[in-house]
Amino acid sequence: MAEKKKVCIVGSGNWGSAIAKIVGYNAARLDIFDSRVTMYVYEEIINGRKLTEIINEDHENIKYLPGHKIPSNVVAIPDLVESSKDADILIFVVPHQFIKNQCEALCGKIKPTAVGLSLIKGFDRAEGGGIDLISHIIQRYLNIEVNVLMGANLAGEVADEKFCETTIGCRSKEWGSILKNLIETDNFKVVVIDDVDTVEVCGALKNIVACGAGFADGLGYGDNTKSAIIRLGLMEMIKFAQTFYKSSQLGTFYESCGVADLITTCYGGRNRKVSEAFVKTGKCIEDLEKEILNGQKLQGPITAEEVNHMLKIKNMENEFPLFTAVYKICHGDLKPQLFIDEIRNHPEHIVKFSNL
Ligand SMILES: NC(=O)c1ccc[n+]([C@@H]2O[C@H](COP(=O)([O-])OP(=O)(O)OC[C@H]3O[C@@H](n4cnc5c(N)ncnc54)[C@H](O)[C@@H]3O)[C@@H](O)[C@H]2O)c1
Repeated sequence: MAEKKKVCIVGSGNWGSAIAKIVGYNAARLDIFDSRVTMYVYEEIINGRKLTEIINEDHENIKYLPGHKIPSNVVAIPDLVESSKDADILIFVVPHQFIKNQCEALCGKIKPTAVGLSLIKGFDRAEGGGIDLISHIIQRYLNIEVNVLMGANLAGEVADEKFCETTIGCRSKEWGSILKNLIETDNFKVVVIDDVDTVEVCGALKNIVACGAGFADGLGYGDNTKSAIIRLGLMEMIKFAQTFYKSSQLGTFYESCGVADLITTCYGGRNRKVSEAFVKTGKCIEDLEKEILNGQKLQGPITAEEVNHMLKIKNMENEFPLFTAVYKICHGDLKPQLFIDEIRNHPEHIVKFSNL
């Protein structure tokens, strides 16, 4: 019999803890996985106790996912290398600003045959002006195959076991079915596709659109305006993917990682919430992040900056007015009250006739 696959979850925030519930459950019941799942936890002291101790003794991450039990076969470990060294499957689920440091620490310390699954939504700046996908960064540092999982998956609702779907972008059929087994439950249905980069691009870009949705909410606009922002945002996402990732397939935008995640994020996500408060209170984004999110991290404003960095270099800011306006507002270069004016003359507002 083949050896059981060992799983490590690198990260233990809101999403990391919700996915630990699922992975712990599946690893305990399916023969192909070792039932002991390790979880790297960035150590914090909460009410005088270590977070790892709380998770291992009370089986709950009281800071990032309070009110939900994490299965007892998930073991919290504060040492990154210790938690990952024997893993066959490494699930990366940390805010994207921390991933490079963590990859540096893991370099040469993991199984060379390990496979990665990144749940991280965001980009990084590439040397020379472009943007780097997080899965590519992990792949380069660790020299392993890295797949991605993105979808309309607000962590709290997934932890509540409310029915939803997700998308795994996978580089090989064999790993596609193993990862589906590891992640799927009756309430968390998985579609596996091979358009890996587009799946990841969707997951990062939708957070920029969500900031725009939050600005509109803060300014008192209604559902029609929100829908216009979602549609224009989707068109910019598609254009971005097709411009910079030539093999990108339109069908990927119909998966959970595409239009579904975009809608969820523009109604329920943290980027929308903080952006609404930004307009209503006039406080800066950093202060609101601390005030509202209790240690959770915001991705939209950083992603908008990374995308803008690339668009500016390529002289393409005008072709992506929504992405550009969100960046300028988050950066303090544009008043949020002017947001709608920036998308009023969007290049999508044209006469479209088919050639038939
Ligand atoms: N929360 C969701 O609903 C959700 C859903 C899908 C995808 N995601 C994505 O998952 C990724 C992780 O998000 P999350 O919600 O699990 O995290 P989070 O924002 O809830 O928590 C922040 C995490 O970062 C850790 N941390 C803080 N400072 C650190 C440091 N200096 N070094 C290393 N770690 C540090 C904290 O311990 C905590 O685990 C993000 O890319 C996010 O976009 C989140």
